[in-house]
Amino acid sequence: MGEEHAAPAAAGAHHVHGHGHDDGRKVSYTAWVVTVSDRGARGEREDASGPALVGLLRGHGYDVVGTSLVPDEEDRIRDAILQAAARDVALVLTTGGTGFSPRDVTPETTAAVCERMAPGIPEAMRAASMRITPMACLSREVAGIVGRTLVVNLPGSPKAAVENVSAVIGPIAHGLRILRGGPADCARELGR
Ligand code: MTE
Repeated sequence: MGEEHAAPAAAGAHHVHGHGHDDGRKVSYTAWVVTVSDRGARGEREDASGPALVGLLRGHGYDVVGTSLVPDEEDRIRDAILQAAARDVALVLTTGGTGFSPRDVTPETTAAVCERMAPGIPEAMRAASMRITPMACLSREVAGIVGRTLVVNLPGSPKAAVENVSAVIGPIAHGLRILRGGPADCARELGR
């Protein structure tokens, strides 16, 4: 089971104001949210994390062009990520399947799909989250790059997903500028 929704191309440009040190420069990025949940894909549980992340992304100016709801199965997770990458989506957030359950394979599947890993992102998310709950160390979330797409895993609960991504959403905008070849000046964005 599982489903996918691709939104039609947005009419207008959406702008991301990179966190703070952006000198007012505007950039626009697309995003895609992949919810990984056996029960969600079977229709036994409403997906609250996907909509929470869509709302957060839109609040930061991202153009969310699609969402996927897939079970905890490698081929389904891989297909969802690669589908977004094939559409040159800038940022893919996955939610769910990062823990210790035998069915949790999102990090391994993400790592297998990615060409380059970005370990600082999950390191920062776990460090920030440990201030909220020591359970944060149980998320095996990873982040990496496939083509021009940055993929970031998040835990499955809406609260945990939002807490994790909130810790890195500013730096991610800077990273996307560099990844996608736009003008990016690290020193200037750091206010130096
Ligand atoms: N991170 C934050 N910020 N807040 C949380 O409540 N929950 C943790 C962890 N990360 C949590 C968090 C828990 S209890 C688990 S088991 C792992 O994320 C993995 O979650 P997942 O299996 O839903 O991916």
